[in-house]
Amino acid sequence: MRIGEEELVFKDRVVVVTGAASGIGQQTAIEFARQAAQVVVADIDERRGAAVVADMRNDGLDAVFVRTDLTSEADCAHLIATATATFGRLDVLVNNAGIEISTPLHEMSEQEWDRLVDTNLKSMFLCSKHALRHMIGATNGVIVNVCSVSGLVAWPGIAAYNATKGGVMMLTKSLAVDYAPYNIRANCVCPSIIDTPMTDTSIGNDASVKEAKAKLNPIGRLGTPEDVANAILFLASEKSSFITGAALTVDGGYTAI
Ligand SMILES: NC(=O)c1ccc[n+]([C@@H]2O[C@H](COP(=O)([O-])OP(=O)(O)OC[C@H]3O[C@@H](n4cnc5c(N)ncnc54)[C@H](O)[C@@H]3O)[C@@H](O)[C@H]2O)c1
Repeated sequence: MRIGEEELVFKDRVVVVTGAASGIGQQTAIEFARQAAQVVVADIDERRGAAVVADMRNDGLDAVFVRTDLTSEADCAHLIATATATFGRLDVLVNNAGIEISTPLHEMSEQEWDRLVDTNLKSMFLCSKHALRHMIGATNGVIVNVCSVSGLVAWPGIAAYNATKGGVMMLTKSLAVDYAPYNIRANCVCPSIIDTPMTDTSIGNDASVKEAKAKLNPIGRLGTPEDVANAILFLASEKSSFITGAALTVDGGYTAI
């Protein structure tokens, strides 16, 4: 490759990104498509998901939207079936979708707990289950799960969220161990606070609050969706072919202290 000639790392690769109508998932879908991947954008938000795909297509990128409630096994099965029927294969699954509910544990309802666990953890089981059936047949595949620094250390005040991310961490390691014989890798990324709509909801959009949160990271700024997308693309690429079962922090040094 000569200087100036961009290598299209994911040419002819099919990538499913969940929760891709917003934030980290949206940016990840765009970055994969910029590297020539055929991308399936999955989200429960039909209006925003369709708009993301329309924008991507306007930019000449290859993407389709599949409306998916990731807490439903029927929807997850339909998502993976649509990806393989549309593009003929499935190379990469990015389990990204997640929500945060910050009710203190002693006040949390059973419904809130179930919603968190279903969205943040069960969804990753369901999508992985159906994707693995194709990946095992092809003896090829990569799964990247979006975990959090709160899968490594307890972020104060969000115990149930932390618990789901601890589950994502161990699901990732288990996928790596059990499916390595089929040439399937699984890793996760662990971001600290990233400037996305989820963060605007959880800490507010006040600049001084964001500045204070940014100071928790030795690098001194909040992360961007691009920071996380770059790490996900690395873990999905051949450049990480000997890495599986890993948790890559994307946290500006937050967990290094
Ligand atoms: N933003 C942060 O600071 C941060 C930090 C660490 C980890 N994370 C993780 O990153 C991931 C993405 O977060 P984000 O900040 O981009 O959030 P976001 O709110 O911007 O986007 C999340 C997307 O998931 C979708 N979604 C939610 N429930 C769904 C369901 N049942 N079915 C289908 N789609 C559903 C939403 O519609 C939305 O488009 C999450 O797993 C989150 O826990 C975020």
